[in-house]
Amino acid sequence: MIVGQSIDRQDGRRKVLGQAKYAAEASADGMAHAILVQSTVAAGTISGIDTSKARAMPGVLEILTPDNADKLNLKQGARQPVTFPLLQGNEVLYSGQHVAVVVAETLQQAQAAAAKVSVRYRAGEAVTIMDAVLSQAYEPKKFDNGRSKPDTKVGDPDAAMQGAAAMVDATYITPIEHHNPMELHVAIAQWNGDRLTVRTATQAISGAQETLATLFDIPKENVTVICPFVGGGFGCKGNTWPHVALTAMAARKVNRPVKLEVTRQQMFTSNGYRARTVQKLKLAADSDGKLLAIRHDGLSQTSQPSTGEFAETVGVESRMLYACANIATTHRLVSVNQGLPTFMRAPGEASGNFALESAMDELAVALSMDPVELRLRNYAEFDPTSGRPFASKGLRACYRQGAEAFNWSRRTPPPGSMRDGRVLIGMGMATSTYPTNRMAASALVRMMANGDVLVRSGTQDLGTGTYTTMAQVAADVLGVPVERVRVELGDSRFPPAPVSGGSMTSASVLPAVQQAAFQVRDKLLALTGWNASGDLRLDNGVVRGPDRQMSVGDAMARGGVPSVEATANTKPSPDADKYTRHAFGAQFAEVRIDADLRTIKVSRWVGAFDCGKVISAKTARSQLIGGIVFGIGMALMEETRVDPEFGRIVNANIAEYHMPVNADIPDIQTIVVESPDTISTPLGLKGIGELPTVGVAAAIANAVWHATGTRVRELPIRLDKLLV
Ligand code: MOS
Repeated sequence: MIVGQSIDRQDGRRKVLGQAKYAAEASADGMAHAILVQSTVAAGTISGIDTSKARAMPGVLEILTPDNADKLNLKQGARQPVTFPLLQGNEVLYSGQHVAVVVAETLQQAQAAAAKVSVRYRAGEAVTIMDAVLSQAYEPKKFDNGRSKPDTKVGDPDAAMQGAAAMVDATYITPIEHHNPMELHVAIAQWNGDRLTVRTATQAISGAQETLATLFDIPKENVTVICPFVGGGFGCKGNTWPHVALTAMAARKVNRPVKLEVTRQQMFTSNGYRARTVQKLKLAADSDGKLLAIRHDGLSQTSQPSTGEFAETVGVESRMLYACANIATTHRLVSVNQGLPTFMRAPGEASGNFALESAMDELAVALSMDPVELRLRNYAEFDPTSGRPFASKGLRACYRQGAEAFNWSRRTPPPGSMRDGRVLIGMGMATSTYPTNRMAASALVRMMANGDVLVRSGTQDLGTGTYTTMAQVAADVLGVPVERVRVELGDSRFPPAPVSGGSMTSASVLPAVQQAAFQVRDKLLALTGWNASGDLRLDNGVVRGPDRQMSVGDAMARGGVPSVEATANTKPSPDADKYTRHAFGAQFAEVRIDADLRTIKVSRWVGAFDCGKVISAKTARSQLIGGIVFGIGMALMEETRVDPEFGRIVNANIAEYHMPVNADIPDIQTIVVESPDTISTPLGLKGIGELPTVGVAAAIANAVWHATGTRVRELPIRLDKLLV
């Protein structure tokens, strides 16, 4: 079996040699360059745009404003949300909103001209900070992709809390965060009559195709979206953001290919963010630590309603993680004058888990109980809200193996009790979980006469290993070494596949690859004309039976075909809805905090994960480590700051938006507990991209409490919060 092995990335060598061409590296004959002009006020209307100076600048070809922009088809029939604004009106809803696009012969000419565009505003009253208007919270219209309702309730939590032996009642806050992938957002658009080709950095070529077809009111087949490599996305490349449609609009206006790459600063205003949340958690337990009630009331920030709506699903984990007869969750939104928030690695789960797993730690303290023991006493054998069984759950083994590898038993409970000279040592842990998602997907597999294999799907590889895992699955079925499988993806002309989000690329695409490969194998075996195909197998380009063999080339010649191919369309089993399908994990953190200066250093990490069957051990480990690093950033550093007066983001750059670097990261030990889920997918995998980020912030907050006795309930945990 090649599936499960540590396989080098198929695209790794091309990437380190610079041969993997990202969207921004493409060019087209006669390509012009576009630059976005953004609003400097957070609310109001545009009262006039003077482009005369800019138009007189050298090389300027066109300036798009709401006055001359093409009217787009804004019907929301498409599955993929259309993101606004798209120069369709004069209303300004946030600082940084796109108000004009300057197109010129060269990038520098476009930049120079953009600086000369003069926009006048009638400024309105802006709501810049969510916390000022919490009382105006409202129920989300769209929630959890329609999978669940904003509010749930089983039992009677408020009554069950009466007379509890231990209670936690606390508010937890998570800030706005931005994804900051290395690769900037970019689009290169080219029209040929009413056919549009777009090279762009996206997690969803199928979504981009659908959105563009809707906006320009042309058949989907007329739109080709190409994206063979993605330099990270973390969710911000899931939607098709306005710059893509604006690039296509500009290309049509100047009748030339146009390239628009947003700047690093514009990455903070043009493609969503993780919304600020304010969450109230109430837990009650009896003296044995059994949970009597859980209440999780979540508020999250969203944009002004006309730019869409996005709700952080902070409470969904509290509905299913622990055995408890009385659980209530609510979700409400608060509109501010900021752009539309979006998915960011483990959306909802990462923020919600910080609240729930911090509260569980506080409950353990109130009960004088070991935090791992408290979780084991409340281990859910079935989903307590839906009553459904889990499709698979290896969480108990994650706690045990994680605790053992971490030496959790050496932890002494009182805060501040573990020291190394003047350094305070803290140990904390948290549970992790993330749902197993899957959508319909298709793939083509073709075997050539020489035994080489081609696999094709209109999916995308965010750097997570999709090229590699697709090759592994086909190689196993068709009996060839993985080197003989060539994978092509990132082109909307290939068989369609869903967004690479929600950790579901493997779960969606690999079953299609496997199905198509099965069909190719069966067709090939049939071409031999031999009966008893059950005894036949494929071995590196040769069909072998117990006492005979035939090369696949000879089998194809016999059938009169140059190659054998099949396309498979697969979708989740209807039985899947009868189960709660989740991946799980246990995170163990050690922090070292200077007793006087309160500098915080993560010094050790063990994460044990049940992510179902692992397809590629090497890329899985990289994903797990990457997810933990992402969580360390969330816990200790990341925070987008908004100026309360002007509603502008003041740290819209990666110098002042802090993220971890290598020196901030300890040796990370990852343990994989395989608990295959064959209900979600025949391959048994559960998805891995977001799970390792969940639980990191709480594990660190809990470790910080253990080191210092200070409970920090607002992220990020900076040293100033430990100096009070
Ligand atoms: Mo992920 S936040 O679903 O791209």
